[in-house]
Amino acid sequence: MSVVAHAHPNIALIKYWGKSAQPGNIPAVPSLSVTLNTLTTTTEVMEADTDAFSLNGVPTTDPKVARCLANLRQRFALPPLAVRSSNNFPTAAGLASSASGFAALVTAVDAFCGLGLGPAERSELARQASASAARSVFGGIVALAGPAWQGRPLLDPGDWPVAVVIAVTDTSSKAVSSTEGMRLSATSPYFSGWVESAGADFDAALAAVEARDFAALAELAERSCLKMHGLMLATRPPLLYWNPTTLACLHRIRALRQRGADVFFTVDAGPQVKAICLPGSRDDVVRELTAIPGVTQVLSAGLGPGAWVQ
Ligand code: DP6
Repeated sequence: MSVVAHAHPNIALIKYWGKSAQPGNIPAVPSLSVTLNTLTTTTEVMEADTDAFSLNGVPTTDPKVARCLANLRQRFALPPLAVRSSNNFPTAAGLASSASGFAALVTAVDAFCGLGLGPAERSELARQASASAARSVFGGIVALAGPAWQGRPLLDPGDWPVAVVIAVTDTSSKAVSSTEGMRLSATSPYFSGWVESAGADFDAALAAVEARDFAALAELAERSCLKMHGLMLATRPPLLYWNPTTLACLHRIRALRQRGADVFFTVDAGPQVKAICLPGSRDDVVRELTAIPGVTQVLSAGLGPGAWVQ
């Protein structure tokens, strides 16, 4: 007897970076994201003699998975569990595999153990493991903000047909994890400016999403991304997640937009570039990014649903 759950990664347009001083992995800033559809984490949970975890078929230990289960056990009596998780996309390379991973894990454990949790509670539990995971519990366009710090769906996947094209420039695991990068970012002189200005960016993005105003969202999202990378660059030691191909993609996307394409970029704690576009511009974006030397793979997605049980 086992339960299988699926969840998709999400890409933040207004970035979460930095934690508040409160317990429970509460972000320092609100964020807004799109949940994808073609990239998927599949997680199977079953009873076992002792807890065991495997990722992409390889038995491994992951302190964050152990902490997530320990956190659940503070509230619920869970048996020892074997967790088998796999991704159909590169793991830990800045493609948000921890977001889909913890959304799928909490959803699978909830169903397997009959905990009867609603999506908001699953989102909160996923957030405690990895804050971006709170957003992958929901589909479409999702906000994560206080005071509850649970994901909140803003638009369903079909409400605004946005496409996401991902240029993979390097599939090796990232040098500095998001969690560690955020810890170091407290040394950045720009960190306080980042936190102070995040609320206004978030509010403006909410309004842009509500109005389906792609141009306004493009400006806000690129600014949020570049502000985050600016504070990363000024961190001690500096966090430089980009490679030359990353930068080439950003310039190409800006040039495409100047030629009239509806597209903007975002980059997370890794070298991959995510181009967000309207369907009419998608083929151009795929063609242009594929042609850039150093781009090893181009993945295409639309907006997808929140975590679900098979
Ligand atoms: C750059 O959610 O991975 O992708 O809460 O420490 O697990 P932890 O961090 P994580 O950070 C994601 C950071 C980001 C931006 C974002 O997804 O909002």
